[in-house]
Amino acid sequence: MKIPFTDLQSQYQECKTEIDAAIEHCLHTNSFITGKDTTLFEQDMIAYTGAEACTACGSGTTALQISLKACGIGPGDEVITVSHTFVSTPEAVCTVGATPVFCDVDEYSIIDIAQAESLITERTRAILWVDLYGQTPDVDAIVALCKKYGLYSIADAAQSFGYQYKGRRVGSLADLTCISFNPVKNLGAIGDAGCVTGRKDLVDLARYYSNHGRDTKYVYEYLGYNARIDNIQARVVQAKLPYLQGWLDRKYEIAQYYHKELAGYYITPIEHDWGQHSYYVYVVEHVDRDRVRTALLEQGIQTNIHYANPAHSTPAFAPWHRSLPVTERKSANIFSIPVYPHLTDQQVEYIAEKCKDVA
Ligand SMILES: Cc1ncc(COP(=O)(O)O)c(C=O)c1O
Repeated sequence: MKIPFTDLQSQYQECKTEIDAAIEHCLHTNSFITGKDTTLFEQDMIAYTGAEACTACGSGTTALQISLKACGIGPGDEVITVSHTFVSTPEAVCTVGATPVFCDVDEYSIIDIAQAESLITERTRAILWVDLYGQTPDVDAIVALCKKYGLYSIADAAQSFGYQYKGRRVGSLADLTCISFNPVKNLGAIGDAGCVTGRKDLVDLARYYSNHGRDTKYVYEYLGYNARIDNIQARVVQAKLPYLQGWLDRKYEIAQYYHKELAGYYITPIEHDWGQHSYYVYVVEHVDRDRVRTALLEQGIQTNIHYANPAHSTPAFAPWHRSLPVTERKSANIFSIPVYPHLTDQQVEYIAEKCKDVA
């Protein structure tokens, strides 16, 4: 049996009618950038997340950049963030000219809040955490910490869209939340897309930064970016939104099966009880990771690593390197097995069986 790591084609086939209609709509109405379709998309995101405001943007990466700019963060400022993430998170801190201060993660693979507090200095302006793999840290605790020290709370929720923390949806929990609709995300576009949700005063600023800092057509209030969403992407994401909960529920069901089958063979993910993990990826730990991955590939099972080389250990981030023992241990041992909603029961059973055979 051959099982790819992701299967975007099956997802497309499931909602082909709606996706094709979304594309046609934009082509037939010349709706490409900004205007009514962008606004309708933002309204849908506000309704879904429960956030005060939303501005669409071109990707999760630009969502991070315009959020940091909206908080006035730049040279001389420190942002506490993690290295155990996709590179966009610390990269955005550096591209606005600020300094990333790397914090280790806990056994849930999310920011270690006690350590984050110990890293606060008079130059710290924000805590930028990541809902890695699809669940949040204890947001109430981080937001309280940010309030105590007068910091902005910024969530990188690229991997947790749809998750609810204590009944409140991701997008409404932090001062600003940065969301990615990259095609492989929980809710994916057919190219790059993203949005920022959160406090209206900050979202309004982020909107300026996404569109050249523009007020009216030729009045530039700030130095901004071209970080706008394509309307085709906005319409596609909206068209797929009604499917999201079904996909999250199916991934959760597969994950519960993996937990049961793989316990004792691998270190399996642990879940916080304040929400239903959205399983952007299902990540296990094994000390002999490379051998296990090769053996699985021989059985037709494609795996991945999220993430093999943490940012602080790479040349670009060398100036901000700190020892991060949990991040370093995890990045040496982790790998991700397929968990997408279109896997059949038979495929899921095959993956679990082979994972046990080769452990
Ligand atoms: C945690 C995290 N942050 C940021 C991003 C960047 O999102 P995008 O690819 O939409 O720029 C991604 C995914 O790609 C991600 O997984």
